[in-house]
This record gives sequence, C-alpha cells and structure tokens, in this order.
Amino acid sequence: MKTLLMSLILINMTYEMPKLPYAHDALEPVISKETIDYHYGKHLQTYVNNLNNLVPGTEFEGKPLEVIVATAPDGAIFNNAGQVLNHTLYFLQFTPKQSSKEPKGKLAEAIKRDFGSFENFKKEFDAAAVGLFGSGWAWLSVGKDGKLVITKEPNGSNPVRHGYKPLLGFDVWEHAYYLDYQNRRADHINRLWEIIDWDVVEKRM
Ligand SMILES: [Fe+2]
Repeated sequence: MKTLLMSLILINMTYEMPKLPYAHDALEPVISKETIDYHYGKHLQTYVNNLNNLVPGTEFEGKPLEVIVATAPDGAIFNNAGQVLNHTLYFLQFTPKQSSKEPKGKLAEAIKRDFGSFENFKKEFDAAAVGLFGSGWAWLSVGKDGKLVITKEPNGSNPVRHGYKPLLGFDVWEHAYYLDYQNRRADHINRLWEIIDWDVVEKRM
C-alpha cells in the first residue's frame, strides 16, 4: 500500500512555478514590471510547462529538479530542467528592501577568504556576466572543495552539473534585460546588486 501511494505521488508530481515574495512592480526601476511579467510569467512558465510535458514516461519522472539537471544528457529535458532551476533560484534571490547592501556572516567571510574583498568579488562576477558570449548565466557557487567559485554556464546549464552548490545567479539571456536596458547588459548587471537578498543567498550555503 505504501509503495502504491508513493508511486501515485510520483505519477502526479509536477514541477511548479516558484511563488514570488514580491509584487511584479516591486523591483522597479532595476527590473520593470513588464520584464517580470514576461520573464517570470511567460518565459519561466513555458520552461515549467515544457518540463512537465517532457518528463512523464522517462527515467526522470518523479526525480528532483537538481538531480535531472545534474544527470540528464544534453537535450530538451536537460535544457528545460536547467532553466526551471536557474530561474527559480534567480527570482527568489531578489528583494525590493535590502536588509544589507553586502553579505553578512559566513557568506561574507567566505567571500573575503576566496576573493579578497566583496568589491573584488563583484568585479570578478561582473566580468564573468558581462563577458559571457551569447546566452547563459554567471553563478557564484560552493565548489566541491568547499571554496567559492564563479562560473559561466552556457544556455540553460547550472553549476549542479559540475557538482557545485549554486548560491547566486545572474541571467544574461537578452530576455532578462532587453525591455529595460536594450543591449546594455553591463548597465543591467551593475543595477542587480541593488536588489539582492543576501540573507536568501547565505541560506543556500
Ligand atoms: Fe531568463
């Protein structure tokens, strides 16, 4: 009976949209309501719908998102699972009311240990995000050795693909900024620091 119940739960398991802890216009002027409407409401919703259509009947049915992203071969399931994971982490890391402009506690200590200073970390992260060719993501993660690492992930990939624990991600697909900043990716990235919820990022460590 227990096994049957478990399998019913897995059969009915679907991947869901993250619930935003802020209103669509709350991140203005850094990210406009229109961008959230499209980026969250259309792009992310499409990735979630695609994943829920692709996974049933495959070996990935019922598996956690992180497991799919870490293990699926390149292709549609990996691409859509990666983008659901990426955007879930992305949208939940923002706040209209920063409690602090810089990380605190163990995250602040780790950044100082591995990058020298918060300013130097931001400089290296900005360079990764601005310099990424084409569409993709810049991520701060905890690496396998416990040190913080910045990576550039192409398209829909995520640091879990390398066995890392993702903490903070900047989306540099044009759909993330084109309505508000057109081609000025660096301007968009510079402003994102104003809405990072460092408490959320630290809790991911
Ligand atoms: Fe995106």
